[in-house]
Amino acid sequence: MNKFMKLSGIAAAVSAALVLTAGSVQAYEAGDFILRAGAATVDPSVDSGKLKANGSTVLNAGAGGATTVDVDSNTQLGLSMTYMLDSHWGIELLAATPFSHTIKTKGDLGSLGKLADVKHLPPTLTVQYYPMASDSAFQPYVGAGLNYTTFFDEDFKGSNKAAFRSLELDDSFGVAVQAGFDYALTENLGVNAAVWWIDIDTEATFKHATNGTKYKVDVELDPLVYMVGLNYKF
Ligand code: NI
Repeated sequence: MNKFMKLSGIAAAVSAALVLTAGSVQAYEAGDFILRAGAATVDPSVDSGKLKANGSTVLNAGAGGATTVDVDSNTQLGLSMTYMLDSHWGIELLAATPFSHTIKTKGDLGSLGKLADVKHLPPTLTVQYYPMASDSAFQPYVGAGLNYTTFFDEDFKGSNKAAFRSLELDDSFGVAVQAGFDYALTENLGVNAAVWWIDIDTEATFKHATNGTKYKVDVELDPLVYMVGLNYKF
């Protein structure tokens, strides 16, 4: 829930900024395309299930509790394209160069440290609402839609390459919400900042290389995705 509150906070800040805005250099109208490009960061808010080995929880002898995993953040080139249905409604597709994340174990397999690297692509389709008048230079927006995330190039790191094999992460399909704004610098060019909250849940499975033990862990990644860059309207 706090994710939605963060987004509401951003939306409120954007609304407050509207008051300071004047000018009419950019018109958002039906049929317009808005291309946005910038640095996109996927920052997972990891909620790891317990690592299971052949169905049994892998305990964490050192700290107590169970063995879990963590996933770091990554920044790539983000690209998005909005098609305006009219002056207030648009449809946006978010794309990016593949994100690469490192999975770390915590607990009894913590000695393995950085377990594996995995890449993913998180295409996200949202319906967007632009509340401002068509000719406002400042165009905040909110959106909601769906995300599909596919994982690939799952590779164990270092000595774990020899210890384990067959790492796979299930694809994820979930909701996405977003808030952002464009600010026009010229008739076609402007600056953009946007944030998404995306529900990405997956199940990771892998095997021990020699004794065949099957490992499994459910992981909620549920990242915030930030993008800051430029927009071009045509
Ligand atoms: Ni989730």
